[in-house]
Amino acid sequence: MKLDHPHIINESGRSYRIGELDGTQVVYSFERMLMYLEAKGKLMFGDGFKIYEEDRDILLVLCNYIIRDYDNCKKYGIDPNKGLLLSGPVGCGKTSLMRLLKCLVPHQRPYTVIPSRNVVFGFNHIGYKTIEDYGNGQFFCFDDLGVEPMGRHYGKDCNVLGEILLSRYDLFVNHNLRTHCTTNLNAGELEERYGKRVRSRMRQMFNLVAFDQKAKDKRG
Ligand SMILES: Nc1ncnc2c1ncn2[C@@H]1O[C@H](COP(=O)(O)OP(=O)(O)O)[C@@H](O)[C@H]1O
Ligand SMILES: [Mg+2]
Repeated sequence: MKLDHPHIINESGRSYRIGELDGTQVVYSFERMLMYLEAKGKLMFGDGFKIYEEDRDILLVLCNYIIRDYDNCKKYGIDPNKGLLLSGPVGCGKTSLMRLLKCLVPHQRPYTVIPSRNVVFGFNHIGYKTIEDYGNGQFFCFDDLGVEPMGRHYGKDCNVLGEILLSRYDLFVNHNLRTHCTTNLNAGELEERYGKRVRSRMRQMFNLVAFDQKAKDKRG
């Protein structure tokens, strides 16, 4: 990783120039970011990976978010200081995109994409320490939020991700730490799952970026 060249990413012996350097600032090119994402996607997920024409609008928002282009974020109504809540139907590519997106910005501190259900399994094994572990200063993307099972440790039930989101909200307010999530639930369903208190905090800490409900399943 070359920290002094954030506009050039090297991948399997090839360099991808995703923008131009203007002084110390990178002027990113959306088309070049897409070319890189497609190439990296093929490396990560197999040759069938491609950038779909119908995903360009959502990719434009996500790319501008991740490169922290404040002007464009404003134009698209998102706040670069909040996290992403990426929603959309099963199979539309949410998890893949969240895993890919961070590769565009190797100079930024990466977030760990972790399945929400694995967080609950951790809780079931080791209990409340899990909630502390995810309430720390690391960056996370909780994948598939809302469909994880209820946590249970020594006979006590716990809405594990609900508790973690409350901790993450405090980190957001006090330390500007961002959290990302993916989900196939809508706002009402999330509220049903986590309650009003969590839902109202989620509204403050996330930018909602949504695939079309009719976005097709990319599972080949
Ligand atoms: N842009 C893409 N091109 C080709 N295949 C894709 C693309 N995005 C996702 N996939 C494949 O489609 C399947 C579902 O993607 P995934 O990211 O898990 O969707 P979601 O998290 O929205 O359910 C996976 O097998 C993934 O490799
Ligand atoms: Mg997924």
